[in-house]
Amino acid sequence: MCGIVGYVGRKDAESVLTVGLQKLEYRGYDSAGIALLTNSEIVVRKKAGKIHDLINDLENNPLPKSDIGIAHTRWATHGGVCDTNAHPHPSRSGIFAVVHNGIIDNYAVLKEKLEREGYHFQSETDTEVIANLLEYNYLKEKDLLKALVRTVNELKGSFALAILFKEDPDLIIGVRKDSPLVVGLGEGENILASDPVAVLPHTKRVVYLNDGEIAFVRRSSVEFYDFNGNPVEKEVKILNYDEEDAEKGPYPHFMLKEIYEQPKVLSTNLERYVRSLRPVLLRDLNLRKLLLNKSRIIIEAAGTSYHAGLVGKYLLETYAGIPVEVEYSSEFSHKKLVTDSRTLVVAISQSGETADTIDGLRHAKKHGLEVLAIVNRPESTIARESDYVIYTNAGIEVGVASTKAYVAQVQVLTLLALELANVKGFLTEEELEGMMRHMEALPEKVERVLALDAHIEHIAERIYRSTNVMFLGRGINYPTALEGALKLKEVSYIHAIGYAAGEMKHGPLALVDNNLPVVVINPRSSVYELTVSSTHEVTARGGRVISIITEGDMRMAELSTFTVFVPDVPEFLTPIITIVPLQLLAYYAAVLRGVDPDKPRNLAKSVTVR
Ligand code: M6R
Repeated sequence: MCGIVGYVGRKDAESVLTVGLQKLEYRGYDSAGIALLTNSEIVVRKKAGKIHDLINDLENNPLPKSDIGIAHTRWATHGGVCDTNAHPHPSRSGIFAVVHNGIIDNYAVLKEKLEREGYHFQSETDTEVIANLLEYNYLKEKDLLKALVRTVNELKGSFALAILFKEDPDLIIGVRKDSPLVVGLGEGENILASDPVAVLPHTKRVVYLNDGEIAFVRRSSVEFYDFNGNPVEKEVKILNYDEEDAEKGPYPHFMLKEIYEQPKVLSTNLERYVRSLRPVLLRDLNLRKLLLNKSRIIIEAAGTSYHAGLVGKYLLETYAGIPVEVEYSSEFSHKKLVTDSRTLVVAISQSGETADTIDGLRHAKKHGLEVLAIVNRPESTIARESDYVIYTNAGIEVGVASTKAYVAQVQVLTLLALELANVKGFLTEEELEGMMRHMEALPEKVERVLALDAHIEHIAERIYRSTNVMFLGRGINYPTALEGALKLKEVSYIHAIGYAAGEMKHGPLALVDNNLPVVVINPRSSVYELTVSSTHEVTARGGRVISIITEGDMRMAELSTFTVFVPDVPEFLTPIITIVPLQLLAYYAAVLRGVDPDKPRNLAKSVTVR
């Protein structure tokens, strides 16, 4: 939430920074702003609205040229969405300008202290407090590093900062505590950003800041310090992405592009984690001993990753015989843990930067538990702080709605469950081989679902004016119902709710009338007949059924107003094949309602606040 970028070099800083902001726009799009240092003055331009509003404003009313500056795209926390609350925030006398990603918990106390010292505040933000506190400390200390150390130690909460200092035209300052920050190392230029995607157009050489670190970024050098002001040695890493990974290409939206990338993602993980029809996660990543020593798993995750965790629970319990609980990270991180060392905590996250999930992992580690992360983004906080990591290899996911990352998470959990089942002797070699053959056929089957795109768009045309949509699934596809509903509501703003099909008769059935579209996920499975019965309960009350069913299933088709036939797969793979039409349904419903599915209101891709 919130994206920050800073640049010092020889290029036109305004264009580098606005391009950087566009790459970070997925992190928040309530307002945007830029500060440049030019002729020994800091000039600021900021606006409520999306980044293109800022860019239009800069075109109509250009800022003086500069080769150093900072910029911000905001997801509002403290203070409403308006020009004044937009970042950057200058300090009282204008010697500093600050952009911030995070929340300062003690900002009210600090603000009062500064007000007593004669400071006045223009905005309602916690960030303006940081700018003025830094100025206050600098005027006292007369030394920049000492002032910074003093300031960061007074702040409580989470903060990634980029700071411009009027007295040094060769310096941008980066600070990290509990919000991500990376420095890209160029030739005669360096760039600071919340996410490597903003660095990628300039360089692949990066240094990730750890919590409690400060970076002094200059044109030809970068120095790092800890929060006591001591120098820190850092390792340079090479980004493993290509620039086009973060581009839309021929697709109108990232969400559609990412839905279409799913067969490729599935194939990538088959290449990485399967050899001669054997999953090799436990073997190659040295996880075998770890998993065999554990008698219980707690999965902690948020949103879509939580839904992947629910599918994982089903698979790990069914095949590997290990009890699994799945917790929302935001709940887990505040819970008393009744566990022992034989409990493994699994943190699932696309971004690896979700604050709630980071809190959950730290909570687990504080209680002496080992943590295995299932993460998409390398070098993310969750990847770095966990004891063990499995990467989901979905590439950069930009659309706010998680699609390909979910499919990759479910695939990796499936491989893990099957390999563990085999190692424990619950699946014979022949059984495992048979299942893996089905898994290898999956990318091509997902391609066949994508070929139904126009048919699904047609269904979306019939439902996009609805105010409510219900999703029903059972067993391994109950999480699919939850995920289908989440996708629809977050990108189209249609109220959508997922239920376990068998629960209908215990209450939700009262919602059904002839205006309610009910999406029933009922591929061929062990719970097929029971879900047919639930579907009868819906149609008997006039509900209009949209069914996601196996090719050739005429019984369900007869009960349905619309059907999406998906290729036949064994039950353990149905969550992957059935979610794809629901992603497309959500996408087209959003587009028909005039919503940009990549940037739904009030949301941001990476939720780095608690
Ligand atoms: O990056 P993470 O997987 O940790 O993110 C968790 C959720 O914030 C995320 O899945 C969110 O629910 C998505 N917008 C869902 O599409």
